Amino acid sequence: MVDLSVRVGSVDFANPVILASGACGFGRELSEYVDMSTIGGICSKGLTLLPREGNPGCRVAETASGMLNSVGLQNPGLEAFLQNELPFMTGLGTRIIVNVAGHSTNDYQKMVERLGAPGTPVDVLELNLSCPNVTEGCMTIGATADGVYNLVNAVRSLTDKPLWVKLTPNVTSISETAHAAQDAGGDAVVLINTLLGLAIDVKTRRPVLQNNTGGLSGPAIKPVALRMVQECYRLISIPIIGVGGIMNAADVIEFMLAGASAVEIGTASLLHPAACAKIIKDLTAYAEDNCLEALSSLTGELKLW
Ligand code: SIN
Repeated sequence: MVDLSVRVGSVDFANPVILASGACGFGRELSEYVDMSTIGGICSKGLTLLPREGNPGCRVAETASGMLNSVGLQNPGLEAFLQNELPFMTGLGTRIIVNVAGHSTNDYQKMVERLGAPGTPVDVLELNLSCPNVTEGCMTIGATADGVYNLVNAVRSLTDKPLWVKLTPNVTSISETAHAAQDAGGDAVVLINTLLGLAIDVKTRRPVLQNNTGGLSGPAIKPVALRMVQECYRLISIPIIGVGGIMNAADVIEFMLAGASAVEIGTASLLHPAACAKIIKDLTAYAEDNCLEALSSLTGELKLW
């Protein structure tokens, strides 16, 4: 029997495959296609204190090897999540990660206090300091090391639950922001959120997305994400969750070799709802074929030239 389990800080996962925020809502739709108890974990859509309708107009555009989104954090808000969505997620039989977004430090503090109170059925809070599609909070906070440090520091004492910090690649030095997350008490960093991009309609001569810009995800960003994971793995000591263009089991292995303890799958689930289940099956086959007793032994095993 191959051991697919991984440990991220104090939390054990049955396998390293987690559904990324934004690619699975709160799990309702995907649960019709996949036995969610077989997935390592599920990360909720980015949640804010109050409900948000998201950005207007066209919000998604296909690109070469990827997609742009500018959803704008559409979500039902904290109270509706606690009443309607969290009980559903709890029944899925997998680890629950809640992606926490906000306009201000005060928003993040209120969310963390509530979601991270003792006894809530939440395993991990993922601080979204990286959504590129809103004008306040998120990436505007996460774009500098000071911004990351101050935000994580402001919420750290409010909960005993693990805090993962999802960082933006739209910075000069990812290792500086990752360090800031670690120094302020973050339990892990999630690398990376989307790369800010633009698509243009040559007929209308306007951006395809009504928000003008959007976040690029999918296979196009995998090399960027891998580079950032391996760079940070060498410079920080907290665990890394890799995300960015993972489409199959080989991609997961690459991220683990680069230093990821676990991974999140986003765009692949939009293409194939059961992508995660197939990836987990193929990871088992890979481990068997390569006589690996524990998949976790791959983390950080990349040998640089
Ligand atoms: C969005 O809702 O605009 C995307 C969320 C994110 O990138 O974190």
